[in-house]
Amino acid sequence: MSPAERDSSPTKSRFLFLNKLDRINPVENLMQKIVSLAKRRGFIFQSSEIYGGIEAFWDYGPLGSLLKNNIKQEWLKTFVQKREDIVLIDTPIIMHPKTWEASGHLKNFTDPLVECKNCHGRFREDHLIKKECPNCGKKDFTPSKQFNLMFKTFLGPVEDDSHIAYLRPETAQSMFTDFNLAQESMRLKLPFGIAQIGRSFRNEITTGNFIFRSREFEQAEIEYFVKPGEDEKFFEEWVDNWENFILNLGIKKENLRRYEHKKEALSHYSKRTIDIEYKYPFGWAELTGIANRTNYDLSQHSKFSGKELVYFDEETKEKYTPFVIEPSLGIDRLLLALLCDAYQEIEGGRTETTKSAKETEIVLKLNKKIAPVKVAVLPLVKNKPELVKKAKEVYQLLKPHFICQYDEVGSIGRRYRRIDEIGCPFAITVDFETLEKGDVTLRNRDTMKQERVKVEELVKAIKEKLEEE
Ligand code: GAP
Repeated sequence: MSPAERDSSPTKSRFLFLNKLDRINPVENLMQKIVSLAKRRGFIFQSSEIYGGIEAFWDYGPLGSLLKNNIKQEWLKTFVQKREDIVLIDTPIIMHPKTWEASGHLKNFTDPLVECKNCHGRFREDHLIKKECPNCGKKDFTPSKQFNLMFKTFLGPVEDDSHIAYLRPETAQSMFTDFNLAQESMRLKLPFGIAQIGRSFRNEITTGNFIFRSREFEQAEIEYFVKPGEDEKFFEEWVDNWENFILNLGIKKENLRRYEHKKEALSHYSKRTIDIEYKYPFGWAELTGIANRTNYDLSQHSKFSGKELVYFDEETKEKYTPFVIEPSLGIDRLLLALLCDAYQEIEGGRTETTKSAKETEIVLKLNKKIAPVKVAVLPLVKNKPELVKKAKEVYQLLKPHFICQYDEVGSIGRRYRRIDEIGCPFAITVDFETLEKGDVTLRNRDTMKQERVKVEELVKAIKEKLEEE
């Protein structure tokens, strides 16, 4: 089999990392449980699963899409809506090919690739443990060569070198190429930021660990332009801002740590980089990074385009190229960290049904702000038409205000359990008292407290509870 055939063969283990986890710990592995829950409850699916999957591409299912969207909304609220100094742009995945020459990605955005001479598996040399092949265990590799991670395509019908274009490997470059346009149109004064959320693409050599390292992923980035000389102060500020955003989404402090890149390992554009790492089930790994990109990118684009990308300081009458601080976040990595952090198993169960069956109950303690479904509406029993009718009315009442779920299948305990598993913070039970008194039971996922609330006050009560810290 040729290497190309091997890569596209459906028998190649798309679930390579799951198989590896099987070998490590078949039952207890948290990662395996998260992957299984994500599939079972509609968060994340293997992309193109019916064709055997496509390696390192993932589909967000109905609940995963809502969760991801909520994370992005929180990010926008924190950094664009609540601040006065950051504007948002939304730009194409394909940019002028000169962009990547100027940015240095064509030359420098590479990883060292080696091939195992025995099984012909290809790996990132710097990811090998004890220089051993992860497939066959042999230690005989071809010499390493630099492999560019950018995906190539052609613009228009002619497939020759003059029509090559690249899928962006970071969203950042548009913030540099649009620097003058954004600054002038919005009359921005330094310091200011240009933000973007969007897809990025990298033809990663080694993939795995679920959505941690994909070939298509989403980034939320800010290029924060500052006066030269003020960059170090703003760098420190942005590391704190970024970390606080993650903590405010509910990630436990003890599961985060900072890692400062060594001078010799910095990216070609960076003067200083700090990663914020998360303690994933497979170990500490980069969740996000903050870099001081100096004036490298604006200077390069000025040089390659012939257009001056500079700032005119009205007060001092000086013209200069700003420095830039770049906090850059992988939305998928954050989502994975949030799932891992929120996942809890309660041995013996906590709802009556699971307690009596001595089952283990899963609760996803997602922050209310990002939980995909905010309220579940449950009739106490299914075989009383008047209860079902009332529950459906309550559901329709809430639907314009919140993402809700209606569930009448199975015992009430089982239904509580199902909604706990997807991290739904509130559940409403419509019971016989509802028919008499017009109130319902409102149950809190975390405290398990139940209170009676009048139907007409439900929207207000839930809105207030969702706003509570
Ligand atoms: N503009 C700077 C930049 O792109 P990076 O450290 O290469 O820097 C930034 O990427 C963030 O993007 C990372 O911290 C990570 O969260 C996310 N990221 C990078 N490669 C990824 C991949 N293959 N899959 C998922 N997320 C990735």
